[in-house]
Amino acid sequence: MAAPGSHLELVSCAIVLLTLFVTIATSADIFLDWHVSIDFNLKPVSADQQVITINGLFPGPLINATTNDNVHINVFNGLDEPLLFTWNGIQQRLNSWQDGVSGTNCPIQPGSSWTYDFQMKDQIGTFFYFPSINFHKAGGGFGPIRINNRPVISVPFPKPAAEYDLLIGDWYNSSYKDIRSRLDTVDDGISPSWMLINGKGPYMNNFSKSYETINVTQGKTYLLRISNVGTAWSFNFKIQNHQMVLVETEGSYVNQIQLDSLDVHVGQSYSVIVTANQIDADYYIVASPKMIVSTNSNTLIGVAVLHYENSTTPANGPIPIGPDPFDLQFSINQAKSIRWNLTTGAARPNPQGTFNVTNVTISENFILQASTGTINGSSRYTVNNVSYLTPDTPLKLADYFSNGSGVFELDAYSKNTSNVNAVSGVFVASALDKGWLEIVLKNEFETIDSWHLDGYNFFVVGYGEGEWRPESRFTYNLFDPVSRSTVQVFPRGWSAVYVYTDNPGMWNLRSQNLQNWYLGEELYVRVYDPDPNPAKENPPPDNLLLCGKYQPSAPPPSPSLSPPPPPPPNGPSSNAYNPPRTSRSLIAVITTAICYLFIGLL
Ligand SMILES: *[C@@H]1O[C@H](CO)[C@@H](O)[C@H](O)[C@H]1NC(C)=O
Ligand SMILES: *[C@@H]1O[C@H](CO)[C@@H](O)[C@H](O)[C@H]1NC(C)=O
Ligand SMILES: *[C@@H]1O[C@H](CO)[C@@H](O)[C@H](O)[C@H]1NC(C)=O
Ligand SMILES: *[C@@H]1O[C@H](CO)[C@@H](O)[C@H](O)[C@H]1NC(C)=O
Ligand SMILES: *[C@@H]1O[C@H](CO)[C@@H](O)[C@H](O)[C@H]1NC(C)=O
Ligand SMILES: *[C@@H]1O[C@H](CO)[C@@H](O)[C@H](O)[C@H]1NC(C)=O
Ligand SMILES: *[C@@H]1O[C@H](CO)[C@@H](O)[C@H](O)[C@H]1NC(C)=O
Ligand SMILES: *[C@@H]1O[C@H](CO)[C@@H](O)[C@H](O)[C@H]1NC(C)=O
Ligand SMILES: *[C@@H]1O[C@H](CO)[C@@H](O)[C@H](O)[C@H]1NC(C)=O
Ligand SMILES: *[C@@H]1O[C@H](CO)[C@@H](O)[C@H](O)[C@H]1NC(C)=O
Ligand SMILES: *[C@@H]1O[C@H](CO)[C@@H](O)[C@H](O)[C@H]1NC(C)=O
Ligand SMILES: *[C@@H]1O[C@H](CO)[C@@H](O)[C@H](O)[C@H]1NC(C)=O
Repeated sequence: MAAPGSHLELVSCAIVLLTLFVTIATSADIFLDWHVSIDFNLKPVSADQQVITINGLFPGPLINATTNDNVHINVFNGLDEPLLFTWNGIQQRLNSWQDGVSGTNCPIQPGSSWTYDFQMKDQIGTFFYFPSINFHKAGGGFGPIRINNRPVISVPFPKPAAEYDLLIGDWYNSSYKDIRSRLDTVDDGISPSWMLINGKGPYMNNFSKSYETINVTQGKTYLLRISNVGTAWSFNFKIQNHQMVLVETEGSYVNQIQLDSLDVHVGQSYSVIVTANQIDADYYIVASPKMIVSTNSNTLIGVAVLHYENSTTPANGPIPIGPDPFDLQFSINQAKSIRWNLTTGAARPNPQGTFNVTNVTISENFILQASTGTINGSSRYTVNNVSYLTPDTPLKLADYFSNGSGVFELDAYSKNTSNVNAVSGVFVASALDKGWLEIVLKNEFETIDSWHLDGYNFFVVGYGEGEWRPESRFTYNLFDPVSRSTVQVFPRGWSAVYVYTDNPGMWNLRSQNLQNWYLGEELYVRVYDPDPNPAKENPPPDNLLLCGKYQPSAPPPSPSLSPPPPPPPNGPSSNAYNPPRTSRSLIAVITTAICYLFIGLL
């Protein structure tokens, strides 16, 4: 052991400082200003409807970041109702305050602004954002997120000539407000009528105002970043006469596989490599819905055009049909073939596989059954027979200020069995900090469900048909399961994931299918670390919005768990609340002081 003040301490001190400087030097700040409004004239499918745009754009602008960048997005809500954005797959490390769902944030009121501040901490990959409340997603407001690798990382494929974002999703003839009010009153689900690609209708359809064109040059290779931004339908993606190589999903590099077509379920993202190796011409890009009867001539299939630079030939021939949309075996086999590349680096240079599930000990099991039920006369979606009831006060605020009291009761509902009666309730499940959690998601619907966990990537260890049983665990892939944030659950089947709960916070676990989510198929997972050290979990942001129990006029009580107590809010004109400044600079000061101390000891 080295004595205090020795060179060893100085060296480690220098390393600490260096790491700090490198972190500062390599993470950029990205400032964005978003004006969110309604456009009545876009009419992507000729229908009169309200489309939610950001800075006039539909889809919204790209967030083009690099690992560890800090993003500051000032959102002005020009809609006539409250608004929140969530960042699908962005982990918000130690920072569920920025997650932008009803359980973490008070909504941004019409005519006002709020700034999200968060870091793309230790992530790479393809993601998207969307408006999370009030059924807004069915009206647009979504857009692409790319997190590029830092230059020090070697990426497991050659640099493409260009990258394209393809936001694909189902779309309704009517406005999101109409569908929402039907769900609120009439009680019947509504089926979408279209599949849009980057906000545009299908090529060669009289009702499409325009269609999407992806431009390529013969001989070059491209990266397509595909996300399913829809509300209900999984789709099968393919490009006429071209194959693709699957390389990434939601921040994980996968073992590269060559595909004719790729299934993308609601809320999922993938990147694929496509080489323009055909003769100069135009080719169809097709997204056809699964579990739906669709024909070439109807509007349910999304069609765009892959245009070769020197092509004079329009896309022709029949629209290429992928696998039978009801062929679930195709989908299950493809899902099982998507494996994690254990040897490549991703956000960090060390191989992805160094953190793996091969020998983990599960500390807790969640068994969650999605279903429907009639509650108080209306039909609702449920998880373990509990339909989520959204409280006026975000759970995260209630947790911070009053240990949840008056807003939710932790673990009021079972995490592993269905409630005997269908009820509505504020379902908040506890999870031990830094434990391994197994979550089994069961689907009794005839449709494909899709589940997402905020704050984490989970390891998808198994898919199955029929009833899940403890013996099903013997079929799990514990060698190279892919790590991602959204997993499909096949009709009358189950999916199982493992999560390492190392990100304290209040995290939404939900169906990505918008009608299911809107009607109650969600819960929150509270991952709790009693250590109040802000290095463990971030304190509320300076601009925290108050609502529900915590009105701007009445100062919130002292946080129940995290000293020091915050000062009172700004005053009645602002609904922001100002906690003490956080300690990034404090850490730097302390580190420097320690170094001086060592130097002084020499
Ligand atoms: C995104 O950022 C990367 C890295 O800074 C840059 O090389 C690229 O040109 C940017 N792309 C777009 C579309 O802005
Ligand atoms: C959607 O609108 C188009 C154009 O108005 C119409 O042809 C089509 O029948 C509508 N589809 C549904 C399901 O209402
Ligand atoms: C589109 O419009 C043209 C001209 O009005 C018509 O001949 C054609 O049948 C229409 N196609 C479809 C798919 O409705
Ligand atoms: C492809 O080129 C056309 C014509 O220049 C342009 O309108 C279109 O926006 C381009 N597509 C993309 C995805 O950039
Ligand atoms: C496209 O045509 C132009 C003009 O004829 C030519 O310069 C270019 O090389 C062609 N590009 C390809 C990829 O063939
Ligand atoms: C996994 O990544 C490594 C390292 O980048 C690469 O050499 C290898 O080809 C990849 N494996 C597969 C199956 O894609
Ligand atoms: C999983 O991690 C352990 C220890 O961290 C390592 O020894 C093992 O090789 C890893 N497994 C794989 C499949 O990479
Ligand atoms: C995992 O556990 C198995 C059986 O207990 C053991 O044989 C193996 O060495 C372990 N592997 C690692 C990487 O710890
Ligand atoms: C907070 O609530 C939990 C139960 O939900 C309880 O176990 C805990 O003791 C409470 N903590 C405080 C500080 O009141
Ligand atoms: C369900 O969870 C409860 C409470 O954590 C536990 O006591 C019980 O053993 C679990 N049951 C099953 C079947 O896992
Ligand atoms: C859910 O509740 C309903 C009654 O509301 C009951 O009939 C049904 O059996 C319950 N489901 C389960 C799985 O317990
Ligand atoms: C039905 O509504 C009443 C009044 O809003 C509420 O008290 C009750 O808990 C609800 N029932 C269920 C099963 O949620």
